[in-house]
Amino acid sequence: MTLKVLEKAKKGLIGTITVPGDKSISHRAVMLGAIANGKTIIEGFLPGEDCESTISCFRQLGVHIIQDGDYVEIEGRGLEDLIEPEAVLEVGNSGTTIRLLAGILAGLPFYSCLQGDSSIAKRPMNRIVDPLRLMGAKIDGRKSGSYTPISIKGGNLESIDYQLPVASAQVKSAILLAGLQANGTTSVTEIEATRDHTERMLKAFGVKVLQNGNKISIKGKQRLHATKVFVPGDISSASFFLVAGAIVPHSKIILQQVGVNPTRTGIIDVLKKMGAKLEVTPKSGEASEPLADIQIQTSPLSAVEIAGDIIPRLIDEIPIIALAATQAEGITVIRDAQELKVKETNRIDTVALELKKMGAHIETTEDGMIIYGRTPLKGSRVNSHGDHRIGMMLAIASYIADGETIIENCEAINVSFPSFFETLKRLSIEE
Ligand code: S3P
Repeated sequence: MTLKVLEKAKKGLIGTITVPGDKSISHRAVMLGAIANGKTIIEGFLPGEDCESTISCFRQLGVHIIQDGDYVEIEGRGLEDLIEPEAVLEVGNSGTTIRLLAGILAGLPFYSCLQGDSSIAKRPMNRIVDPLRLMGAKIDGRKSGSYTPISIKGGNLESIDYQLPVASAQVKSAILLAGLQANGTTSVTEIEATRDHTERMLKAFGVKVLQNGNKISIKGKQRLHATKVFVPGDISSASFFLVAGAIVPHSKIILQQVGVNPTRTGIIDVLKKMGAKLEVTPKSGEASEPLADIQIQTSPLSAVEIAGDIIPRLIDEIPIIALAATQAEGITVIRDAQELKVKETNRIDTVALELKKMGAHIETTEDGMIIYGRTPLKGSRVNSHGDHRIGMMLAIASYIADGETIIENCEAINVSFPSFFETLKRLSIEE
């Protein structure tokens, strides 16, 4: 277990930074590169543990991949060249790896077994297992395939027309990746729009994907053609510095080259609504998705209500939004966010438990939380519970808390942002 001891910021956070590549896009670039024909090059790849789990799984499936930091080269030889793995595919902490990979394996005529860490073991897999079984994949696992480890014997898939029971890009993507290998046209209808990186990237690899309202369709047996992928900065990683810039007194931070795909920008909408001094300047670049520079300055914040179809657009940012809400005037209410219970931890419980240790006033509800602001925070011994986003949120909290904060299990941050503390330190010492 790694401990981190942090203190209240002595002065404002000032400077210009970039954040590592987008996690969701990095996973998809490796996966599609691995099943495409030809050499795929990825620039701006996130060299974090989650995306490295995806690389190691595809190596076990026989794909030649070279990774050097944020540069990746993949020798894709098409889906038919993937081979039966000799050992269990280990996904570590990564829900995106296991769920999307299951969609690919469902179409392949061999046996594989997938498992991850103790957090993955608690996360529901029936949400992908049910539709993939409907398509014809033979899947088994703990508690009838609802939890890891799961085993898959794939091949001979039939298309389905599926209504997603939960707003989940991972489930949508798993079905589309299986649909790519099925007979006929597979459709997925979303209740609420979720991140569309899979659809965008399939198109970049030459696949036809149709969208009609909330219904996305893909015709089976299409081939993917290798391409070059430029990954933008991860807005989910940027969000820790956006909130830090808003709540640490006398701060002004510029974040360059952040991905601003509209299915991901709920954090910007919420911070603006709270009264943050935030400017978004669109940038043109080589990135495969929309990019912007974002500037944030300290300002007083006011409470907001967050519910409904914005939730999937900021689901991963709720821990850091909760911290912002502790510093906002009034009562912030977060509803319709029951999906938080099945993230890397139950984030309704872990956010409330840890911020309360620092003096926050938070009530948990069935589908979110109620946060009473503004409350001064005090340094305390807190715990990430092995959840990268809880660890980073607590580190930002320590910058406004009186006294010393000790964060347990800090190593979890390496899942998505290994250079987090260096970036934070750089802002702290710059004039
Ligand atoms: C992701 C989708 C979301 C998100 C996760 C990454 C993806 O999960 O929380 O961090 O890359 O597709 P769900 O699909 O479970 O909502």
